[in-house]
Amino acid sequence: MDELVDGGVVVVSDRSRHAISAVVAPRSGGFLVKQGITAQPDSAASLAREARFYRSMYQQNGEEMLQFLPAFHRFDEFRGLLVIEYVSDAENLKVFYERTGSFPVELGRHLGLALATLHFKTNFGRLAEDEPFLSAAPWILSLHKQIKNMPYGVSGANSQLSDILAGHGSLARAFDELYETWPSTVLIHGDMKWENCLVSLRSSVEIEPIVKLIDWETASYGDRCWDVGSLFQSFMGAWVFAVSTTQDIHIGRSLPSEENQLDILRPAIRAFWRGYIDTAQLTGAQADEFLTRSMRYAAVRLVQTVYEHNVGSNAMIPALISTLQLALNILANPEGAIASLLKMSSEHAND
Ligand SMILES: Nc1ncnc2c1ncn2[C@@H]1O[C@H](COP(=O)(O)OP(=O)(O)O)[C@@H](O)[C@H]1O
Ligand SMILES: [Mg+2]
Repeated sequence: MDELVDGGVVVVSDRSRHAISAVVAPRSGGFLVKQGITAQPDSAASLAREARFYRSMYQQNGEEMLQFLPAFHRFDEFRGLLVIEYVSDAENLKVFYERTGSFPVELGRHLGLALATLHFKTNFGRLAEDEPFLSAAPWILSLHKQIKNMPYGVSGANSQLSDILAGHGSLARAFDELYETWPSTVLIHGDMKWENCLVSLRSSVEIEPIVKLIDWETASYGDRCWDVGSLFQSFMGAWVFAVSTTQDIHIGRSLPSEENQLDILRPAIRAFWRGYIDTAQLTGAQADEFLTRSMRYAAVRLVQTVYEHNVGSNAMIPALISTLQLALNILANPEGAIASLLKMSSEHAND
């Protein structure tokens, strides 16, 4: 830890939900220090969970796996400090996409490879009784039952959401079914999204992109399709937000037009899926089922995005209404959405 005082400090995340992240960058590489926020009741437990994940991964897995994670340095339970490698010259995928307006196919493929390696090749059975990992179905799957009684009250926008959900029995049935069939056997990330994927592409084209999956505070035993669907959600969310909110979301950003965005993102999302199933060796009916279930979860995550953006707003903004509409359409016909929106089938990327 002495090395930590030997360099500049850069705060990289000031909008953190559970922890403040800071970087100390001495000459010999960097450290990322993630600190619990004492005012937030779940913060310490989440950070301990993330630390436990890294520690167990580093004890039980080899190079193949660890290339997709930042190095783990230490966890100071007393002070609530997690120290991991600062991945220099990397940025999260959301920042990357917004900065470049592009999503190279190779990057999509590596993302699939990274996630499938973690899902299928980890030496990570259930740990001892004191394991901190979650296994309950994601809270969003019971949103339609609880939205009026959320602990911090309900905003005007979420009250609107609640009315829309109440008018769509098919959504409630889909959520209930996914809730009841939630498996809790394999380790998953639990909160996959572009912001939790670090990428680095600066090097020349021959050098493969670096992808590292971060923010393991929600590491859970659950459904792999949840993580895959969550990433589908990031792709589709980027597109649908851009379609309907070019003005209010992407002010000053030079993103391509809506139509072009889907053209850019489709090959990348297909490459992500291809990278995933090739690594996971999923084929035939198994791959079909996996894709459909992932797509249904993508719709659930779209509803979660709507809910999270609505917190603190009086009325739903148009982009969120479009996002919700997209989620409802997907839930009504997930196979149709896979074919028409993504233009793909489970095993054939239709490129
Ligand atoms: N090891 C790391 N190296 C470089 N940047 C990182 C690293 N970990 C996190 N970041 C940056 O900080 C952001 C927030 O970190 P994260 O662990 O996701 O915390 P939070 O709980 O706040 O979401 C990430 O989106 C990424 O941009
Ligand atoms: Mg995060």
